[in-house]
Amino acid sequence: MEVETDRLLLRGWRDGDLEPYARMCADPEVMRFIGSGLTLGREQSAEQVSRFLRHWEERGFGLWALEERAGGTFIGFAGLAHQEDWAEGEHKTEVGWRLDRAFWGRGLATEAARASVAYGLETLRLKRIISIIQPENTASRRVAEKTGLTLRGETRWRNSDVVWYATDRRNRPAELKPEA
Ligand SMILES: CC(C)(COP(=O)(O)OP(=O)(O)OC[C@H]1O[C@@H](n2cnc3c(N)ncnc32)[C@H](O)[C@@H]1OP(=O)(O)O)[C@@H](O)C(=O)NCCC(=O)NCCS
Repeated sequence: MEVETDRLLLRGWRDGDLEPYARMCADPEVMRFIGSGLTLGREQSAEQVSRFLRHWEERGFGLWALEERAGGTFIGFAGLAHQEDWAEGEHKTEVGWRLDRAFWGRGLATEAARASVAYGLETLRLKRIISIIQPENTASRRVAEKTGLTLRGETRWRNSDVVWYATDRRNRPAELKPEA
């Protein structure tokens, strides 16, 4: 299950992704607003990738590995994840993104997020997709906004203060529909 955008390939995970993924998750700047803000060791990164793969097997969708098409480089992940412990309503599918710092600031997260949301709403026919973000994570909040998600509330989730955004299939901005 692959998706192509102008600059990115959203693809399945490969063995060779683990090393750059672990390097990315060992970067304090990348992990600053994720959970407790701690970096991950190699084993923890490997466990995460195993969880991503299990999610794909169990639900038929998930977080894609992101590859920059020009250089064929692994640059992070984006996609959809079911958050079973999300308590603000019945819709628990979250769009998420995490990029290696060398690739920030070029609109790549937004490009991947838009493709992920389009896939969720149009292909999977989800009614709502959410995004859960720590309030100080300004870059991530901008990505959510540029992807057409709107702020819906604030709450506590997994021991952190978070704000949450959502987009609904019914009220989706026209410019984010695939035919536009
Ligand atoms: C969040 C993240 C994916 C953004 O990736 P990116 O490819 O740089 O994002 P984009 O270029 O598409 O958009 C980023 C936007 O945030 C803005 N931005 C970035 N840093 C900012 C800051 N410190 N303060 C204010 N705005 C900021 C950019 O200017 C841009 O907005 P603009 O297009 O209006 O100028 C990347 O920073 C990342 O991987 N962070 C660590 C992991 C993470 O926090 N993931 C999300 C968890 S909820």
